[in-house]
Amino acid sequence: MKLATKFFLAATVFALCGMVWGIVMSASHDYLLAPAHGHLNLLGFVAMGIWGAYYALTPTAAASNLGRSHFALSVLSVVVVVPGIVQVLLGQGELLAQIGSIALVANMLLFGVIVLRFGAGAQAPNDLLTAQPAE
Ligand code: HEM
Repeated sequence: MKLATKFFLAATVFALCGMVWGIVMSASHDYLLAPAHGHLNLLGFVAMGIWGAYYALTPTAAASNLGRSHFALSVLSVVVVVPGIVQVLLGQGELLAQIGSIALVANMLLFGVIVLRFGAGAQAPNDLLTAQPAE
């Protein structure tokens, strides 16, 4: 399966979970966990969707081990940080949120490296990390 497809499918699953969660909050009038719902939708749906679009546009990045690692770390970060935020909101500790936050930052740094390495688009420029200045 293409990496972009994986990102879009994961984004769909996260969005469906986030939307059902939002409906449950609305129905119960209990908005305590709203920040966790917001993070699930924004990181799980919006960010994953943007990354999916990037990999659809940039086949060299999609075919790379860095890209595959980015997908795994993206899913892991969301799966760790959202329950972590729930724990914080329920006063049950901060460790999971801290681990998830560090994973999220590492994941975004990895994306930055991938963009520098592969550029964006099918006709992306050469590796910006190792490119020599034009003479
Ligand atoms: C079926 C779809 C959805 C429902 C029923 C829903 C419902 C809700 C509810 C009831 C709240 C709490 C509002 C309050 O505290 O007054 C909320 C907050 C929020 N939602 Fe959703 N939502 C949905 C989809 C989304 C999506 C798709 C996104 C983002 C892409 C999103 C992002 C947010 C954010 C950022 C907050 C604010 C969180 C905070 O207060 O910290 N929601 N939503």
